[in-house]
Amino acid sequence: MSLGTCGRYELVRRIGAGELAEVFAARRPSTDGRDHPVAIKRLLPHAAANPALVGMFEDEGRLAMRLVHPNICRVYGLEQDGETPFLVMEWIPGASLRDLVERSSSRGSLPISLAIRICSIVAGALDHAHLIRDSHGRGLGIVHRDVAPPNIMLGIDGGVKLLDFGLAKARTQLHRTQPGFVKGKFGYLAPEQLQGLCDVRTDVFQLGLCLFEALTGCRVFPQDTAAETVAALGEYRAPPSARALRPDVSPEIDAVVARALAPAPNDRFQDARAMRAALDSTLRPLGHAADQLALAAFVSAHFSSGDTVEEQIDRVTAELEQRRRRPILLVLMLVLLAGALGLAAYSGYRHYVRERGDHAGETVRPSVNWEQLQRDH
Ligand SMILES: Nc1ncnc2c1ncn2[C@@H]1O[C@H](COP(=O)(O)OP(=O)(O)OP(=O)(O)O)[C@@H](O)[C@H]1O
Ligand SMILES: [Mg+2]
Repeated sequence: MSLGTCGRYELVRRIGAGELAEVFAARRPSTDGRDHPVAIKRLLPHAAANPALVGMFEDEGRLAMRLVHPNICRVYGLEQDGETPFLVMEWIPGASLRDLVERSSSRGSLPISLAIRICSIVAGALDHAHLIRDSHGRGLGIVHRDVAPPNIMLGIDGGVKLLDFGLAKARTQLHRTQPGFVKGKFGYLAPEQLQGLCDVRTDVFQLGLCLFEALTGCRVFPQDTAAETVAALGEYRAPPSARALRPDVSPEIDAVVARALAPAPNDRFQDARAMRAALDSTLRPLGHAADQLALAAFVSAHFSSGDTVEEQIDRVTAELEQRRRRPILLVLMLVLLAGALGLAAYSGYRHYVRERGDHAGETVRPSVNWEQLQRDH
């Protein structure tokens, strides 16, 4: 079934959906005749009908376009499909950390070194964004606010990319407008966000939640509803121990988790760079078990038929090519059908004319009575 188009892009595959938007793999039209797969993130109808959310989605999309870093998903543009805005992004073949944790808990845990490496890379991406300055050297004060496992993509090439920078403000607005709404990511708020406070240490806390989940397969705030999560956050006094759930987590790693997850921002790592350094120092004794190749092998083993990124892109490109050819084939078939019908109609007509001609000969041909004629004259 065709997914249709979004603006000037042809939608190929639906990758996923969240509360605000749905994500597609799509074809970007190009002048060089080659198909370029991209990811499209389009607001869902209920969000597109809310002008405040649309405004925020657009503002934050523009902000995301400024972020250029190897571990942040590139946002190429903000476009319109009728009234609905959508983002055009880099497409990352792979799986989210949420998928990976879910899949690996059913087959044993995620290796500790990989969990730490992923979070260390995300800390580096956050640090980059936190420190971005404008042309006058003033800090832009960028905070992600929505660091959560579905927003951390792991490519089958072993790359790690943080998604959805800046879209969290829109999410907060949605929650405000829909009290009591049950949501997947409410469990990734930091305690101070309940008071409307938020700074880079909020991202540190949220990354701590991701680290805890990657190490243990368990969520720190597993409550189902917003009300329950708010209550649990209000009563949050001490960080949980990952080591208590997984004994092979070293005390040093547990200390990093505890520091990131300190209830008071002042007791946490004061920025993402400090958290990254602490994570890296726990990685060193684990050796090279957590390099990009190891992550690529792990993601491929859990999520793909062994295809490389190039093969995945080739597959989507082939799918696109096939779709592009489909209308041409259809037109060809229609032309052939029309030709066959035309021929049939023509020969039918010829037959009719011949038949009609024979009868006409019988009726119209003058029947001259020569004897009568001679008598008359
Ligand atoms: N650029 C991308 N490339 C590949 N997959 C992506 C990309 N962006 C998003 N995804 C996938 O699509 C899924 C849905 O993304 P989306 O941001 O809409 O929802 P979410 O993050 O799960 O929820 P929320 O609405 O709470 O943000 C993600 O979990 C991820 O697996
Ligand atoms: Mg997301």
